[in-house]
Amino acid sequence: MMEKLQMIYEGKAKQLYTCEREDALIIHYKDDATAFNGVKKAQIEHKGELNNAISTIIFNALHKHDIPTHYIETLNNRDQLCHKVKIIPLEVIIRNLIAGSMAKRLDIKEGTPAPRPIYELCYKNDDLGDPLINEDHAFALGAASEEDLATIKKLTLEINRVLIDLFDKIGIILVDFKIEFGRTLDGRIVLADEISPDTCRFWDKETRKKLDKDRFRRDLGNVEDAYQEILKRLSTLK
Ligand code: TMP
Repeated sequence: MMEKLQMIYEGKAKQLYTCEREDALIIHYKDDATAFNGVKKAQIEHKGELNNAISTIIFNALHKHDIPTHYIETLNNRDQLCHKVKIIPLEVIIRNLIAGSMAKRLDIKEGTPAPRPIYELCYKNDDLGDPLINEDHAFALGAASEEDLATIKKLTLEINRVLIDLFDKIGIILVDFKIEFGRTLDGRIVLADEISPDTCRFWDKETRKKLDKDRFRRDLGNVEDAYQEILKRLSTLK
């Protein structure tokens, strides 16, 4: 049984611990939720357990499609064993429907379909508020090499295709999502972090009800119920 040894990092929603494996870390999912770069804070009951379970199902689905990720195994209801990676300081976003910051910035009605998936990069830097950048900015900032940027874009578009299909099967529209990549000790670029209702917009296909963190960001209520609903539907997949 792999045990958490020393906490080496605490983020807004997760903690990272060393363990007896040199090439791996244990990721602990917390109930803390923040929005607007940490300005709004709360606890969402059971969120850690729900996101751990949801992320587990998604990482396993991505592995079936040969997408490389940091995920190794789920240890208990809040902890995942993952390969140690150096996070590439980019927030990689795909938008299938226009919502959130893009709807606001360009004055487009939320829910407008994108003619093709929109690929966005943000520079992962809390002091700057994670500003929107392009690939040339990412290269100039030294965030990633040209080759890494190409790998990241290709993997991200593949992940989008897998996730659109997965969520379609359970009656959910994958509106948009944010992912992060890391480099393993042996130099491979892999999907890292988490994929959960904290990091995606999920709308019910029939009712368009929001089943993600927008319920918290926008004070819509029933946040935990929405996350439960996502896990319940994912659990019906074989
Ligand atoms: P946005 O519309 O606010 O730019 O968000 C795009 C997607 O990224 C959405 O699915 C929510 C997710 N996201 C995060 O995971 N972390 C963040 O800090 C932000 C702002 C968005």
